[in-house]
Amino acid sequence: MTRDAPRSTEDLLGPIMLSAETIASKVKELGQQITKDYQNHELLLVAILKGASIFASDLMRSIDLITEIDFIAISSYGSTTKTSGVVRIVKDLDSDLTDRDVLIVEDIVDSGLTLSYLKRNLLSRSPRSLEICSLLVKEEKQRTKINIRYIGFEIPDNFVVGYGLDIGQKYRNLPDIHKLIIPERENPH
Ligand code: IMP
Ligand code: MG
Repeated sequence: MTRDAPRSTEDLLGPIMLSAETIASKVKELGQQITKDYQNHELLLVAILKGASIFASDLMRSIDLITEIDFIAISSYGSTTKTSGVVRIVKDLDSDLTDRDVLIVEDIVDSGLTLSYLKRNLLSRSPRSLEICSLLVKEEKQRTKINIRYIGFEIPDNFVVGYGLDIGQKYRNLPDIHKLIIPERENPH
């Protein structure tokens, strides 16, 4: 896998939107803020598989607190580039959330439907606190207003891949975040 722009017409990978260096310094900043806000508390990170796994593992190492991590996998019905809002838990947490300080770690919030479902679900498990940290937010797109306490970057409404984000499970391993070039559908007539 290269970090360059596409070389063939089939390659959908576009230019870099956020470089690995830019991401790393933001992750450090978020970690410092979280460390400050949760001083004297133990934190449970809930990372949403698969996309947030890379962000969560970097973020965890920039948090200077006693921190646990757990993972939840959600499947949303919809096309490859849009969420339908109908969500199902396919792998649940191992941890009991009762009286825990829980921070949901997400890669990207688009419509907000996935997170609003998850937030409701996790709140019913009686955590002491529940907040959200998302690396990316498509601000103009949000249909459901959810309170996101920690935001890495607000980005325009482009589909992006890399640093955990995928299209059809591809490109998660890219160190930078790229725009995706979605080709115009060919007119069959
Ligand atoms: P939402 O429910 O519309 O907020 O969608 C959130 C989920 O859709 C994220 O957890 C991602 O898995 C996926 N998603 C939304 N936008 C993008 C994108 O630009 N690139 C990759 N995945 C995305
Ligand atoms: Mg996701």
